[in-house]
Amino acid sequence: MELLKDIICKARKLGKQIVLPEGTEPRTLKATEIILKEGIAKVILLGAPAKIEAEAAKNGVNISGATLIDPAADSRRAVYADLMVEIRKSKGLLKEQALDMLNDPLVFAPLMIKNGDADGEIAGAVNATGDVLRPALQFVKTMPGVSVVSGAFLMFVNKPQFGANGVLVFADCAVMPNPDAQQLAEIAITTAKTAKALTGMEPQVAMLSFSTKGSAKHPLVDKVTQALQIARQLAPDLQIDGEMQVDAALVGEVAKLKAPGSPVAGKANVLVFPGLEAANIGYKLVQRLAGAEAIGPILQGMAAPVNDLSRGCSVSDIVNMVAIAANQAADN
Ligand code: ACO
Repeated sequence: MELLKDIICKARKLGKQIVLPEGTEPRTLKATEIILKEGIAKVILLGAPAKIEAEAAKNGVNISGATLIDPAADSRRAVYADLMVEIRKSKGLLKEQALDMLNDPLVFAPLMIKNGDADGEIAGAVNATGDVLRPALQFVKTMPGVSVVSGAFLMFVNKPQFGANGVLVFADCAVMPNPDAQQLAEIAITTAKTAKALTGMEPQVAMLSFSTKGSAKHPLVDKVTQALQIARQLAPDLQIDGEMQVDAALVGEVAKLKAPGSPVAGKANVLVFPGLEAANIGYKLVQRLAGAEAIGPILQGMAAPVNDLSRGCSVSDIVNMVAIAANQAADN
């Protein structure tokens, strides 16, 4: 896990401020102690300060370096509400509604980012993905030139013959249930950027399907070949190929048989799945059956890092995601 150590090391030098909306959640508090002790980031915990402190004491956790903010009482609420009304004016959001919404830490955190009061957000230890993502999509929005937010996983497979010395990046495992060809192309390009930025690998992108180079005919295969064409137009320098089955993407011998001459087959390190079902099931299979370490979902395409956690996350998952968010904030 040298790569993870590098990411944590880089985060230490960046001094980014990461907001954790689930401020009374015990794993979040334990992670906060580690993040502060190791100087990985500055931490903002949201919630009623008395409750946060009581929970920290109950868990024997020292969070004395963290900034505690109560979304229901903070002096910036009116400023944030004006910002929300401005951003959602086409949807007719009223200031009273915005003030009410700001009581929810999952809304307050994106507004902190939007107003420049935090560099990134990590949540999801107790909240569902949709509830974490929706306010971030509404108020942080996508980065310029990107229309689709998606979720990538860094997969550490302990088998150096695969990917970049055992490291692969999978997407979209978290956000878009059924991307169209244009969205899939964007997901491929953003994932390649994430892979390069976080791991330093030269992305070799495989557009996955149940067909390799026309072996099956189906509208679902057509979607992937169209996405490939669009991605090539949008990013002509990107090493990308498809459509291909995952064995052709990963195994040189299979690639020679099924996709001879492909610049990517047999050595892919970025796997772009055709839809969320395949991607979400696929990363969990590799994690559970092959014992891979899966780090993510790392949300990509958002104007600032907002990363979701699995509700089964560990303390070290939260620490790692904070370090990743700090790195992403520096690259944005
Ligand atoms: N990229 C950019 N913007 C988006 C995206 C996207 N992928 N998806 C939605 N939006 C925008 C919409 O355009 C909309 O903007 P607007 O309000 O300004 O018009 C806003 O976000 C809200 O979108 P809705 O369609 O109202 O919200 P929806 O209820 O569809 O929520 C969500 C979007 C939460 C991402 C939904 O698609 C979802 O639940 N996805 C699956 C998440 C999930 O359960 N993943 C699996 C678990 S994660 C894991 O296991 C690692």
